[in-house]
Amino acid sequence: MLDKINTVKNQFKEDVKSVKSLADLEKVKIKYLSRKGTVADLFLDMKNVALAERPGVGKRLNEIKTVISRELENLQSGWAKKDGKDSLDLTLPGRRPFVGRKHPLTKTLEEIKAIFLSLGFAIEDGPEIETDYYNFEALNIPKNHPARDMQDTLYITDDIVLRTHTSPVQIRVMERCQPPVRIIAPGRVYRRDTPDASHSPFFHQVEGLVVDEGINFGDLKGVITAFAHKMFGSDIKVRFRPSFFPFTEPSAEYDFVCVFCRGKGCRVCKNTGWVEISGAGMVDPNVFKYVNYDSEKYTGYAFGMGVDRIAMLKYGIYDIRLFFENDIRFLEQF
Ligand code: DAH
Repeated sequence: MLDKINTVKNQFKEDVKSVKSLADLEKVKIKYLSRKGTVADLFLDMKNVALAERPGVGKRLNEIKTVISRELENLQSGWAKKDGKDSLDLTLPGRRPFVGRKHPLTKTLEEIKAIFLSLGFAIEDGPEIETDYYNFEALNIPKNHPARDMQDTLYITDDIVLRTHTSPVQIRVMERCQPPVRIIAPGRVYRRDTPDASHSPFFHQVEGLVVDEGINFGDLKGVITAFAHKMFGSDIKVRFRPSFFPFTEPSAEYDFVCVFCRGKGCRVCKNTGWVEISGAGMVDPNVFKYVNYDSEKYTGYAFGMGVDRIAMLKYGIYDIRLFFENDIRFLEQF
């Protein structure tokens, strides 16, 4: 019986040498380990072994069975690695693809644009690297005039700056088109500012400009109020406070009723019930001179709007820096 076991073992070694594929391996496995295989036959033969010898022979037989099983398993995992197809585990859960989403500023800007498009405005664009002429001069902000102090910026040369506001697009559009003009101009702007919860050296504005015959301050108030209602709800009141901008006369700053407390007073509106949005006014006749518009014939209004500010109000965000840090834990929430 022990000889028989050894013969099987040697034959197994020979058979294994000639394995060339997983299919060959499967054949060897069936030959030795299946229910009617060689090893099972050896176990059947045990009944012919003398009782006294059975423990020793049984032990040997079990050893051989283990050796054969291990050897076959090793070979199998070796082959599986070589042949990728066979290692595919169809029971594994799939890898979930990462789904991106729109940045809260993009969403807010899309909403602002949609509202103004519905009010009949066209969308215009201008460069972020701007000349001193468009950013200041043609907007009635002469060199060395104290009005320059309102907006310091980053100078590339004495005459080229990172634009401090989207207002230069007003000039570019009026140079190119005759009235009637009814546009908004969204984009990124820059200031010499130290970042904190409410300041960033870059942020986003939407400029508005309407020029035609017979445009008045009432039209401005109507459009801003319509915007406030569409963006934050029809109970949002708007107020205008007298102010100064070099390119508008008269000028105003406009506020919305606080969108959080609806005017009751809270932390966000510092208990005033109002939140400041931006500036606006009637286009200064001096500005029309720069673009050769007849200020006796045409009047117009202009307004600014802070996109970041509106997004903060819309989504209850208390720190402007969160928009620019690209922290996925923040961005995932929108
Ligand atoms: N450009 C101004 C700023 O950035 C905002 C502004 C005020 C825009 C009055 C206007 C305007 O069009 O009429 O502070």
